Amino acid sequence: MKSSDDNAAMNEPRAVEARQAHGRAGTSPILVTGGTGTLGRLVVPRLRDAGCTVRVLSRRSREAGEGIEFVTGDLATGEGIDAAVEGAEIIVHCAGSSKGDEDKALNLVRAASRAGARHLVYISVVGADRIPVVSRVDRVMFGYFGSKLAAERAVADSGLPWTTLRATQFHDIVLLVAQQMAKLPVIPLPKGLRVQPVDAGEVADRLAELALGTPAGLAPDIAGPKVYDAAELLRGYLRATHRRRPIIPIVLPGKAARAMLGGANLAPDRAVGRRTWEEFLAERVSASSLRQSDHSSSLVPP
Ligand SMILES: NC(=O)c1ccc[n+]([C@@H]2O[C@H](COP(=O)([O-])OP(=O)(O)OC[C@H]3O[C@@H](n4cnc5c(N)ncnc54)[C@H](OP(=O)(O)O)[C@@H]3O)[C@@H](O)[C@H]2O)c1
Repeated sequence: MKSSDDNAAMNEPRAVEARQAHGRAGTSPILVTGGTGTLGRLVVPRLRDAGCTVRVLSRRSREAGEGIEFVTGDLATGEGIDAAVEGAEIIVHCAGSSKGDEDKALNLVRAASRAGARHLVYISVVGADRIPVVSRVDRVMFGYFGSKLAAERAVADSGLPWTTLRATQFHDIVLLVAQQMAKLPVIPLPKGLRVQPVDAGEVADRLAELALGTPAGLAPDIAGPKVYDAAELLRGYLRATHRRRPIIPIVLPGKAARAMLGGANLAPDRAVGRRTWEEFLAERVSASSLRQSDHSSSLVPP
């Protein structure tokens, strides 16, 4: 069995950076908000394996694990956040939802400033700065991007040392959307929409590395290895789950949609991800398709 020293040695240079970044603080925990989510729960073990004590913020109480403590709080209301940030010199902000991320970021930033955090790390989305959310139509369909930009600004204007990483869509969210869409007898899909899905594990690697390094401001984007037509991704999912559905191209109105269709959500020059959608799908869909077909057989006529 490996000692913790052996493990730390295997994780060089991240462990070295961890010690540099927060070693002087000794046992100061790293706070991971959203540490129970798709991305956050991959970030947590990477930080722990680099020799850090990790504190996870969740809205629900949970059992502590080895090297991981949980605190309960809600970033939308601010409840419990002062206690969550207390003593945490590094904060990795992975909590998010489809709406209101700017308010969550502001509540976190205020508490982190009061507590004197030394490094605030944020995960945002590619296109946050390029997808204009101006009209009501933009807000209804793409308000998420506007919220992410506002949250980025809250972090950058916090006065705290910060790092923000923008990522493209994770494979997991593409799969989730495909699963939902496949429940429809006919699938409407924005004509010309392209996606560059990235592996959440690879984003977690990068985020943990950034968290343990020195504050970097806006880091270079992280994007998946390939740009796909959204219809191609969906067809891949339908084929893998042995379904047939007609896909009807639809035209989306508004400036945000125009920017999306122009590729503002893509970062082809930052296609640094390695795991492809096909690889992800091959591993994930056999189990999920069984669950889906059980579930969807009652919803979708054959
Ligand atoms: N998914 C993508 O394709 C993608 C792409 C680029 C960037 N991002 C960004 O990456 C981050 C993580 O995404 P994800 O896909 O991992 O999200 P997720 O799986 O939906 O997880 C969301 C996390 O946020 C926490 N959370 C939500 N509302 C909260 C609140 N009011 N107070 C405290 N915690 C709250 C949840 O914790 P509890 O439920 O335990 O409270 C959960 O851990 C988000 O900021 C997202 O915008 C995602």
